[in-house]
Amino acid sequence: MNKEELIERANLFVKDTLSDEPTGHDWWHIKRVVGLSEQIASKEGGDLFKIKLIALLHDIADYKLYEDEKEGVVKLKNFLNSLLPDQPLREAILKDINAISYKGANVAIDELSKEGQIVQDADRLDAIGAIGIARAFAYGGNKNRSMHNPEEKPKQHQSFDEYKKSKGSTINHFYEKLLLLKDRMNTETAKSIATKRHVFMENYLEQFYKEWGV
Ligand code: ADP
Ligand code: NI
Repeated sequence: MNKEELIERANLFVKDTLSDEPTGHDWWHIKRVVGLSEQIASKEGGDLFKIKLIALLHDIADYKLYEDEKEGVVKLKNFLNSLLPDQPLREAILKDINAISYKGANVAIDELSKEGQIVQDADRLDAIGAIGIARAFAYGGNKNRSMHNPEEKPKQHQSFDEYKKSKGSTINHFYEKLLLLKDRMNTETAKSIATKRHVFMENYLEQFYKEWGV
């Protein structure tokens, strides 16, 4: 199977698996992350085949999508085993995908390849700005979280476990993740896009509190 065919197979697999996903990891998120990754790579370089594959598959094994966390990992491994005979490449891709997701404010960062860094930046860009705000409220609604609770102080988590268990309001999610992302971009290209999206979120919060009456 050539690289183009493999990307097409990955496209179909991901579209099929994530089309009805309600927590902000839907197919359109994946499409945006692929597009942003390509945009960043056009300035920063990197192997486009690897970048596209990581971008397409980065949320397939996400712990939030399954009752049993291991289910997603098995699904991802089976897919890669069936299509990609190059074992070192398979392992490199799995390692990057595992390292991409955000695990909490004060949790140590896993090492990523250049391609993994680009996809992580793209994924994080899609979590901030106008779309990031929409995704956060969609996620909060799906999990029955309150929109805002002025009596609840935001937390900066010390471990991934603590972050995973957090059931705070969606406004608090801005402080535990969204507002921290602009300083955690790997590439200069993503930093510059993130700066604009960050300002938009700050303005949004200012208006939100004004309307809330504080
Ligand atoms: P990504 O797919 O970008 O790695 P996540 O898997 O962490 O992001 O989450 C998917 C989307 O849901 C993101 O936009 C994220 O900010 C949002 N989200 C995750 N956890 C929460 C939460 N506790 N409250 C509100 N939104 C959340
Ligand atoms: Ni994602």
